[in-house]
Amino acid sequence: MLTIAIAQTAPKLLDVEANFEQVVNLTGRIAADIYLFPELCLSGYAFSSPEEVHGWALHQDNPYSGRLMRLTEEREIALCGGYAEATADGAIYNSAFFIGNGKLLANYRKTHLFYRERQFFTPGNSGFSVVQYLGARFGMMICYDWIYPEAARSLALLGAQVILHPANLVLPYCQRAMFARSVENRVFIATANRVGRETNALSDDLLFTGGSQVVAPDGEYLLTFDDSESAVRSIQIDPSAADNKVLNSFNSLLEDRRPELYVGGVQSP
Ligand code: ACM
Repeated sequence: MLTIAIAQTAPKLLDVEANFEQVVNLTGRIAADIYLFPELCLSGYAFSSPEEVHGWALHQDNPYSGRLMRLTEEREIALCGGYAEATADGAIYNSAFFIGNGKLLANYRKTHLFYRERQFFTPGNSGFSVVQYLGARFGMMICYDWIYPEAARSLALLGAQVILHPANLVLPYCQRAMFARSVENRVFIATANRVGRETNALSDDLLFTGGSQVVAPDGEYLLTFDDSESAVRSIQIDPSAADNKVLNSFNSLLEDRRPELYVGGVQSP
């Protein structure tokens, strides 16, 4: 069994210091093995220009990640959340970190960019991968990746038991759709969405839809938040429940796939 805490927060746009302090403080509020934070939880979301994003983006190796690494070592916890990632070649990705055991265990770059993200970020090139932590297998996808079933399917085919899903959802569909993503892959999906409103110099007025949740491989909603609360709550899960893909004596979910007949479908790894 392991305990996952979801932090549904309202990060302040362009206030990395305050958002970082909030991340650290929330990990002290309740005990958990893994803490999941929203997409871009250090910078906020509604940037106004590529220059602004460049100004607030962080390299993988930055003072905040160093402090988070030390925190995971001291407290024997792991942390997952989103940040604007700057690279040496000048690209900026909408990324998620998975930090544990004092290290960056995995870094995922968002594959499917939503709305103005397409103006400000480079489409992710990391692809999907699975990381082992505390004997369980975790994969990451970020927000709008949810609308492409291929993302969760790829992670399931790679063996993920738990999909960690930092989000800044503005559309209202994902929270219900994760029922399908969970049962069609028989995986846990933990979504940490943000709440609050952000406006910017481009006249965007974004209201984030909250509703963070953990859905079990059988589609049961184990933990749910409402659409506006700022809170951190946790749930115990048994990741091995995701290993049983057998529906009945005739059907096994992933083995029964027919990729040779699918158009542009996910091939088995
Ligand atoms: C989103 O991908 N932030 C909606």
